[in-house]
Amino acid sequence: METNRRITRSGVLLRVLILAAFTVTITAQKPAPEVFTLTVPNGPILTRLNASVTLPCELSPIFNVEPLEVRWYRSENSNRPALLYKDHKIQEAPVDPRYRGRVSLTGGLERGNVSLTLERVTVEDRGEYVCHVSNERWYEKANVYLSMNVTGSAPVLSVASGGGGQVNVTCSSEGWSPQPKLTWRNKEETEIKNEQVLFTSDSQGLLSVSSWLLYPPSDSDWLSCTISLSEEEKRESRVLPHKPGAWKEAFIVTLVLSLLLLSALSTVVCILLKHRDQMKREQSKSGTENSLEKQPVKEGKNLQDWHQVKGFKENITMDENTAHGTIRVTQDGKTAQYIKEKETMKSSDQRHPHVLANQSFRSEQHYWEVKVRDETVDKAVGDCG
Ligand SMILES: *[C@@H]1O[C@H](CO)[C@@H](O)[C@H](O)[C@H]1NC(C)=O
Ligand SMILES: *[C@@H]1O[C@H](CO)[C@@H](O)[C@H](O)[C@H]1NC(C)=O
Ligand SMILES: *[C@@H]1O[C@H](CO)[C@@H](O)[C@H](O)[C@H]1NC(C)=O
Ligand SMILES: *[C@@H]1O[C@H](CO)[C@@H](O)[C@H](O)[C@H]1NC(C)=O
Repeated sequence: METNRRITRSGVLLRVLILAAFTVTITAQKPAPEVFTLTVPNGPILTRLNASVTLPCELSPIFNVEPLEVRWYRSENSNRPALLYKDHKIQEAPVDPRYRGRVSLTGGLERGNVSLTLERVTVEDRGEYVCHVSNERWYEKANVYLSMNVTGSAPVLSVASGGGGQVNVTCSSEGWSPQPKLTWRNKEETEIKNEQVLFTSDSQGLLSVSSWLLYPPSDSDWLSCTISLSEEEKRESRVLPHKPGAWKEAFIVTLVLSLLLLSALSTVVCILLKHRDQMKREQSKSGTENSLEKQPVKEGKNLQDWHQVKGFKENITMDENTAHGTIRVTQDGKTAQYIKEKETMKSSDQRHPHVLANQSFRSEQHYWEVKVRDETVDKAVGDCG
């Protein structure tokens, strides 16, 4: 059994050898033409990073290229080719070390196919290659362009103050190849014309892109920045062009207004209280010194004024629904309490603490009293005595 199989195998091997010898004889018999041309693709060869790619190059007419010299080189570097085939073998030197171990001729030289296969493609491999075939009497060369689309990082949008009430929105992204297109769009998807696009190249030959735009600040109308090579190869980011630090300004304005209002209110309350005290004093004075006939005239006038003022006094209640996250209103609407921000869930509310009254006035005179107490120090604030 064992011997039989071995015999069969050697039989097959012998037949293959005979066939091979026969083929060689046929090709050798076909004379190499005096002149030949090279056939390469018209357009660029597109590849991806780290992929394997073939740069086609074929002889016409078809004949065995094995006795010839095949040289593949970058247009700018003919002295250090990516691959050199000479004297029936691929040469170790002089070749570009960047291509060592990554290039081969896999198409079949005996069939006039000198296509170059390039593995683990890098960004630096992009560009023009020359396929150069020569014998002692004739040479021919043709260019093949290797192109690679590399999609860069997602655009990063930043907003800065731009002067003149506008904001300066910047969009930037890196790692693109070839040069991408940058487009600004508003909320309505309308393109915003902007020629201010800057490209810079990194050490790998990939491009960084950036652009800036002056835009009116807004809390609801976003801006988008799209960077694209094609419809399939694009990246987009959006931003609300908030005015930077706008909340700080709003906070300061609110604070100043609140303080002004508070001091105005306490002044009014103080004046009214002082007026009352004065009246009380005068009342008691006149009660002891003045005659009973005189009293009703003077006292009556002062009291009448006071009651008139008190007559404007409004019964103000606060509306819990309008209260800021840090304000809690009692059931009767008469008292509002400030709660420390930590304890509330609504602390995302950026506005200054406030609450509105249920009542509102448009004209006439109104009067109400406000008592302000700071319970944390257990001391009355705004007490004017
Ligand atoms: C490149 O491709 C090879 C296989 O073809 C893989 O092993 C390797 O991890 C890839 N490298 C990168 C950086 O993608
Ligand atoms: C030449 O070789 C390349 C690489 O192996 C192959 O892709 C191509 O189809 C070959 N051309 C012909 C005409 O066989
Ligand atoms: C906007 O910001 C960019 C930097 O991101 C800067 O180069 C540009 O001068 C700024 N434009 C204005 C008008 O401030
Ligand atoms: C590669 O990028 C170019 C633009 O630079 C584009 O025209 C082409 O369609 C892209 N290729 C693919 C496969 O998306």
